[in-house]
Amino acid sequence: MRRLLGPAGLLLALATSVAAAADKTIPMPPDHAYATLKPGPGVEVTRQQCVSCHSTDYIVMQPRGDAKQWDGVVTKMIKVFGAPVNDQDAKTIVEYLATQYGN
Ligand code: HEC
Repeated sequence: MRRLLGPAGLLLALATSVAAAADKTIPMPPDHAYATLKPGPGVEVTRQQCVSCHSTDYIVMQPRGDAKQWDGVVTKMIKVFGAPVNDQDAKTIVEYLATQYGN
């Protein structure tokens, strides 16, 4: 009996499904109004990078803080929790947070 899917076929199927998954966008359910980030430079990047694991209410309910404090939060998200945020975006996000949610 001939096998339908040899190891090569299986690999191909896997690779295809991985490629398909990369194209997939997952629409997030609307967040509650309370969690809406204040408008300002960097708000788009912050929304994109900071909403994939938890609601942005984690951000808006934090005590106000300066850039140093927000840098600590963003660094923790990246180093401890594995947030895939590059250096440039991290800088933009810290500036945004320190301006809109600063002292
Ligand atoms: C990879 C997942 C992930 C991403 C992306 C992420 N976070 Fe978090 N965040 C977490 C986890 C996990 C916690 C801790 C949750 C808990 O303690 O219940 C957390 C908690 C927080 C808290 C609560 C205070 C604290 O220090 O625990 C804040 C504020 C926060 N995140 C801000 C951000 C910001 C700003 C971004 C965007 C740069 C971000 N998060 C992106 C995983 C993530």
